[in-house]
Amino acid sequence: MTWENALGKLIADTIEDLHSIMVHFPIALLVLLAALTAYVVLRPGSGMLQTTWLLLVVGTIGAVAATVSGVVSHFPYEETDLHGVIETHQWWSIAATALFVAATIWRSISRRRGSDCGGSVSFLVVVAVGTGLLAMSGLTGGDLVFDHGINVRGVNPLLGQ
Ligand code: HEM
Repeated sequence: MTWENALGKLIADTIEDLHSIMVHFPIALLVLLAALTAYVVLRPGSGMLQTTWLLLVVGTIGAVAATVSGVVSHFPYEETDLHGVIETHQWWSIAATALFVAATIWRSISRRRGSDCGGSVSFLVVVAVGTGLLAMSGLTGGDLVFDHGINVRGVNPLLGQ
């Protein structure tokens, strides 16, 4: 394979795999957000409040990017029998993303008013519910790949036929 072909394949594969690449950001950042928010609620003076704001904003941007890339990657299956299982994953994911977008708007307004709600029990409850939805999104997304082989290119020689 020439280097031009190798580069072309790398770019094509990266575009095709964009959703699998993107999903790690919201999962890692928003789960860490939930743990740190619980810590901030238990220890209000810990100095972690600003870190949780950063995690919320970057994690939510990651969730929106994962949602957009997911919608793009499911298009080839729109008219197939797999559409149903994909839809289950889609709704868990959209619910999680919508909740974190709402939480970001809520917190942004409260910060502008000078009383960051990030250390409140009600914010922790919202983040915990969002993390539950995100867990369902991740579990159902994994099923699409590992149970249904969606968007899998190679075949694992160790698994046989
Ligand atoms: C917060 C948003 C989302 C998260 C966290 C998420 C998470 C995941 C995860 C963890 C996987 C398995 C990836 C792998 O093992 O490589 C996956 C696969 C998949 N997801 Fe999502 N997802 C999201 C949104 C969506 C949306 C809105 C759709 C639209 C239908 C979608 C469609 C798919 C499809 C078709 C796959 C199969 C493999 C692939 O194309 O990567 N996802 N998702």
